[in-house]
Amino acid sequence: MLSNLSVLLLVAQSTLALPSVQDWLAFSDSLEGRLHATVPLSAPCFPIVNGRNSTVDPERCAAVQAGYTQADFRSVRYPAYMFPQWETCQRTEEKCLLDPSDTSNPLAWALPCQQGSVSKFYVAVSSPEDVQKAFKFSAKTGVRLSIKASGHDYKGRSVSKGSLNLWTRKLDSLLYTPNFTPEGGNKVYKNTITFGAGVPFEDLYRFADENNLTIVGGYHQTVTASGGWVMGGGHSILSPVFGLGVDRVLQFKVVTPDGVHRVANSFQNSDLFWALRGGGGSTFGVVMESTFLAEPRMKLQVASMSFTRTSTNYQPFLRLLVDESYKWGTEGWGGHMGATNLINVNPLLTLDQAVESLKHVAEYVRAQNGTVVIEELPSWQAFFTKYVTTAQASVGTENELVGRLIPTDLFTSEEGKTTLTNTMLQMIAQYGVNPYIVVGTPFLFNETVNATSVTPAWRRALWQIGGHVTWNFNSSTSEIRDQLKIASNVTQLMRDITPGSGAYFNEGDLYETDHEVSFWGPNYPALLAIKKKYDPQSLLDCWQCVGWRGAGDVRYDCYLP
Ligand SMILES: Cc1cc2nc3c(=O)[nH]c(=O)nc-3n(C[C@H](O)[C@H](O)[C@H](O)COP(=O)(O)OP(=O)(O)OC[C@H]3O[C@@H](n4cnc5c(N)ncnc54)[C@H](O)[C@@H]3O)c2cc1C
Ligand SMILES: *[C@@H]1O[C@H](CO)[C@@H](O)[C@H](O)[C@H]1NC(C)=O
Ligand SMILES: *[C@@H]1O[C@H](CO)[C@@H](O)[C@H](O)[C@H]1NC(C)=O
Ligand SMILES: *[C@@H]1O[C@H](CO)[C@@H](O)[C@H](O)[C@H]1NC(C)=O
Ligand SMILES: *[C@@H]1O[C@H](CO)[C@@H](O)[C@H](O)[C@H]1NC(C)=O
Ligand SMILES: *[C@@H]1O[C@H](CO)[C@@H](O)[C@H](O)[C@H]1NC(C)=O
Ligand SMILES: *[C@@H]1O[C@H](CO)[C@@H](O)[C@H](O)[C@H]1NC(C)=O
Ligand SMILES: *[C@@H]1O[C@H](CO)[C@@H](O)[C@H](O)[C@H]1NC(C)=O
Repeated sequence: MLSNLSVLLLVAQSTLALPSVQDWLAFSDSLEGRLHATVPLSAPCFPIVNGRNSTVDPERCAAVQAGYTQADFRSVRYPAYMFPQWETCQRTEEKCLLDPSDTSNPLAWALPCQQGSVSKFYVAVSSPEDVQKAFKFSAKTGVRLSIKASGHDYKGRSVSKGSLNLWTRKLDSLLYTPNFTPEGGNKVYKNTITFGAGVPFEDLYRFADENNLTIVGGYHQTVTASGGWVMGGGHSILSPVFGLGVDRVLQFKVVTPDGVHRVANSFQNSDLFWALRGGGGSTFGVVMESTFLAEPRMKLQVASMSFTRTSTNYQPFLRLLVDESYKWGTEGWGGHMGATNLINVNPLLTLDQAVESLKHVAEYVRAQNGTVVIEELPSWQAFFTKYVTTAQASVGTENELVGRLIPTDLFTSEEGKTTLTNTMLQMIAQYGVNPYIVVGTPFLFNETVNATSVTPAWRRALWQIGGHVTWNFNSSTSEIRDQLKIASNVTQLMRDITPGSGAYFNEGDLYETDHEVSFWGPNYPALLAIKKKYDPQSLLDCWQCVGWRGAGDVRYDCYLP
């Protein structure tokens, strides 16, 4: 809990804190210990923190060094974001980072540690009342708000320099309801799970499995299911058969910026429900919990293949993936594929059918002396713990992902297939960016018309192609800008061959052109009207979100122009 003295000291140091000291004190008192002051994650390693001499704390520094690239370490600490560039102010180069490739590299703490974009104050949200108080405080004093769950966002939407952060990670409830009726409704859904906004997929998957259920969810253990994932769309490698996250959510409980704690489902606040199903996080309110439809536990066919790249063996492989993907789509396959690898799953086929289905690609990989595993696993949990948790997608590194939804049309003609293959080869040859193919669109799923607000381009697509760019902890602003430019150029290559398609709100270009259309297609005007209805003062705002104030707003001073 913050003492009155520490609030006074912090406010005195904080040039961006608009509220008066009395306002902060009253706010702190009202939260009974849930308002916290914080410094950057790596501060214990630095002798100068925010312009003041500081005592290096070897024990706490060692803990940060050990956990720096671990998602589980970062996800339970407010000041840590998965991609540390978002902890910095990129434009001013104020930061407090370690070298992720060698966290004991002393070059890091030769620089002063600066607060960057990390909020000086955050609320560890425990109830709707906490959020109501924060909205009231923001409306009264003008202090900006940001919302963070896991800190996975690739576009920096869970951070904002000088903001008061609402950290939802501690909302960790989990409840299985065999027969669920949305509040105010008359329809019963079998097998649902209701969970707090802070619950990471690893906990949700374990809980579902313990109840003999499957949750259709994302490919990382610490992404939160009720946060940016579902509100932005939420793809899963089970989505081809079972739909996106937005297709499976039955109800949200949400505090809207007007201060009302609401239930949003198909029967009440249905406009808000629609907006939360694809309109994006941090826009319409703070979600407290959500209820998802589960599936029974199911067997999965799993294929994992990879080979060592030579200068000539990945081009035919990419062509093969393009050639086979339409058929695989009709058979229910989802997965992630790259220039020399794939991990695909299928809930519909038998093992024999899976082996037959993948025959050509398996032959190709074996001919490259690569490895091919095709196996049946008893459950999603068995798959996830074997293939995803152990692989530990890299975090703690400077990293940006961009992508584009690739229409099914391209896979149904020779010309389309050639164009698509050549574009991926160009990504590699011209920019050194490897295509990261997500087979996670709702290809076989029968959606209810206009039940969700994601761009309809999702429903016409078979793939999402992504690409990563990275840079170093000590890269200069101009080096970062070069990488982001490469990412934009790669996205443009894909836009050029997919006119009329769109991009995934969570995984589009940081500088998405025409982002309203790209992320939401014809749904944007209705989303904007709903935003204005529930957030008339625009207390919430984020980068390229519905109702965005634009790059010129003070909130975006840390983004590179
Ligand atoms: C390693 C990795 C793997 C990924 N895998 C997948 C995948 O398989 N499928 C997929 O679709 N996406 C995936 N993503 C992308 C992911 O969906 C986005 O990064 C998403 O923004 C994460 O949401 P979060 O709430 O966990 O993160 P955060 O960064 O904490 O928040 C993301 C956004 O949601 C807002 N938000 C969070 N909680 C709330 C709340 N309770 N109420 C209102 N707003 C809130 C934040 O303000 C921010 O705008 C992955 C990302 C990473 C880094
Ligand atoms: C900070 O430390 C330096 C070097 O140890 C010292 O010269 C300086 O006076 C200190 N400043 C403050 C404000 O304590
Ligand atoms: C899950 O299924 C197993 C095997 O059918 C059964 O023994 C167990 O009771 C079930 N558990 C729950 C929580 O339903
Ligand atoms: C879809 O539903 C939303 C929310 O109810 C509504 O505002 C919008 O007009 C609908 N769009 C279409 C095309 O029917
Ligand atoms: C695969 O391994 C065999 C035996 O070592 C070798 O003869 C062959 O050239 C290799 N093929 C490729 C494509 O590397
Ligand atoms: C979609 O609907 C069709 C026609 O009713 C049905 O055959 C098919 O099984 C459904 N697909 C899924 C994935 O449920
Ligand atoms: C950045 O850090 C790396 C790794 O320690 C080092 O090799 C490089 O010289 C540094 N670059 C700058 C600009 O300091
Ligand atoms: C991006 O594309 C533009 C326009 O084609 C080109 O001028 C620029 O050099 C490219 N930038 C990078 C970093 O590749």
